[in-house]
Amino acid sequence: MKTKIHWGIIGLGKIAHKFAQDLRQVPDAKLHAVASTDRERANAFAEQYHAQYAFGSYEAILNCPHLDVVYVATPHVLHHSVVMMCLRRRIPVLCEKPLAMNTKEVRKMIDTARQNYTFFMEAMWSQFVPAFRKTLELIQAGAIGRPLSIKADFCSKFTYNLESRAFNKELGGGALLDIGIYPVMLSLAVFGKPKTVQALATFGESGVDYSCATNFQYENGAIFMGHSSMMHNSRIEASIYGDKGVLHLPSRFHHPKTILWEKEDGSVETINMPFDGHGYQFEAAHVTHCLKTNELESPIMSHQFSLDLIGLLDAVRAEIGLVYPNHD
Ligand SMILES: NC(=O)c1ccc[n+]([C@@H]2O[C@H](COP(=O)([O-])OP(=O)(O)OC[C@H]3O[C@@H](n4cnc5c(N)ncnc54)[C@H](OP(=O)(O)O)[C@@H]3O)[C@@H](O)[C@H]2O)c1
Repeated sequence: MKTKIHWGIIGLGKIAHKFAQDLRQVPDAKLHAVASTDRERANAFAEQYHAQYAFGSYEAILNCPHLDVVYVATPHVLHHSVVMMCLRRRIPVLCEKPLAMNTKEVRKMIDTARQNYTFFMEAMWSQFVPAFRKTLELIQAGAIGRPLSIKADFCSKFTYNLESRAFNKELGGGALLDIGIYPVMLSLAVFGKPKTVQALATFGESGVDYSCATNFQYENGAIFMGHSSMMHNSRIEASIYGDKGVLHLPSRFHHPKTILWEKEDGSVETINMPFDGHGYQFEAAHVTHCLKTNELESPIMSHQFSLDLIGLLDAVRAEIGLVYPNHD
């Protein structure tokens, strides 16, 4: 078994820096290579994080020696093409969320990974953050009885720049795909697939949803209420209500360090699960482990979960009438 898994990063923007910082915490992983559309940015990034190789194009990293896996951190609209390029060369991939722009693209990526016997996972990092995992375990164990509803918000006032990734439709902009995905992911992790999807959105001048509210209803009567906006802040909290208690995930619920467990008798137990860094080390450690043990798919963040998640985002987009012309 290899002692260290050699990571590459494609697309050297904001999240790539945070990931590279957290990767330092994973003992059996090292940053080996980086690829950017800009050679100088690649060189500077490689120097900053001590990567051996720097490439001035995404294609070039495909020929990098001793590369075990790449982390794709480009805007969403490029995920499909960049990931396909890697998977066809049998290079394992961890790709940022949303995995692609729609189900059609995600299905092709998963099919290609399977045909090439190559590991592929969506970087839905929350699923690996200890307090988030503990929350799901508590629900499974009946800590709040029967879960009946979820409220979750993710609103963040973004700098208003129509050219930026968040607002630009050509780059896959919009609140739902960027941050609304987290409340939706929580609903899927707790309740599974809903029977009814309702949504409302406010579109801005760039033609994408600046705010989006989602309501799902389930076969068993449970209800999910989610909210995302790029125009104002919110507390970024989630509460999962059951008939015997409540689990509160204080800010920021998608990478929590604390769980407030409100019990049937009204008492509240605080569960603290602190960690250093941003929280990306947990998904990186998981992928590193999967590769060392020759897994082709994560047992935690499965292909089916990614398909269900993008399916829900497609359903919400159909409700609000949000189309990405080069993809849909
Ligand atoms: N997991 C999380 O917590 C989290 C947080 C933020 C974002 N994300 C996801 O990560 C992805 C990247 O987000 P980010 O915030 O890092 O974005 P960003 O800062 O805008 O960086 C994206 C990078 O992609 C590359 N790129 C290639 N073509 C581009 C184009 N036409 N326009 C802009 N950039 C282009 C650029 O890097 P090079 O020129 O170096 O190739 C750019 O620096 C998104 O899919 C987003 O949903 C995840």
